[in-house]
Amino acid sequence: MMSKVTVVGAGNVGATCANVLAFNEVADEVIMLDVKEGVSEGKAIDMMQTAQLLGFDSTLVGCTNDYEKTANSDVIVITSGIPRKPGMTREELIGVNAGIVKSVAQSALKYSPNAILVVISNPMDTMTYLALKSLGLPKNRIIGMGGALDSSRFKYYLSKAIGCNANEVEGMVIGGHGDTTMIPLARFATYKGLPVSGLLSAEKIEEVIKATMVGGATLTGLLGTSAWYAPGAAGAFVVEAILHNQMKMVPCSVALEGEYGQKDICCGVPVILGRNGIEKIIELPLNDDEKAKFEASAAAVRGTNAALKEVGAL
Ligand code: 2OP
Repeated sequence: MMSKVTVVGAGNVGATCANVLAFNEVADEVIMLDVKEGVSEGKAIDMMQTAQLLGFDSTLVGCTNDYEKTANSDVIVITSGIPRKPGMTREELIGVNAGIVKSVAQSALKYSPNAILVVISNPMDTMTYLALKSLGLPKNRIIGMGGALDSSRFKYYLSKAIGCNANEVEGMVIGGHGDTTMIPLARFATYKGLPVSGLLSAEKIEEVIKATMVGGATLTGLLGTSAWYAPGAAGAFVVEAILHNQMKMVPCSVALEGEYGQKDICCGVPVILGRNGIEKIIELPLNDDEKAKFEASAAAVRGTNAALKEVGAL
């Protein structure tokens, strides 16, 4: 059976995600859809002209707002909305992005009613919650990507501090995908199985945690807009785990119904990703400090979710 992924939004993040999906041959067909006339078509042709140079066989197609072309997608990735500018928080995007995310998700699901939804648009936990509350999909089919990205940044900063290969570092970030809400779990981080607490001083670990938490903001400051290479690749990483039934454990923003003591919220926790989307939520044995941080993080996410009602999105 042919596999098909639609990426809605062909801006920096969406285009990078589509590019990684095609380059890594995650799906046979990748559709990029954007509201801007010609942009997704142009980017898709540009990428297809790299196929012979890079040696991939996936097909990329771009289309302007033509949801019919996205029909029967296995996974739909939502990247639509405005990115943040320097000094802006992800939460400040809610008014604009809520309307966009809801309408593109509804349009895409009309043609792919069985698709699994991967949400990238910010504020990511709140956009995932909006999808959960407004689309009528089972919770295993709605996945926010943030934790995959934040964990990758955590591993990057850990590897820099240790002076090792980032691929040999394990580490997870849970909680909300926000500068003050994410929780890099240093206690569970390892280098080749060795706890990082035995390799780095407490001060160094604190520096790594802080750098991870403002990882996105640091790049927004440097670039003048949101980052895209790692966010796009993190989206593709989540799609691959789903589509190829990898059963990988990845921190993602998912609906909690009592897990981690939370209800009626989407927040980052480790999940097993497979062909059904969220196959299982993993409950980590958090200590009191980590539990308190998770509670504070969930409270902050809940505060942002409340704005969905104020802007009339829910
Ligand atoms: C980031 O962290 C934009 O939220 C995205 O870079």
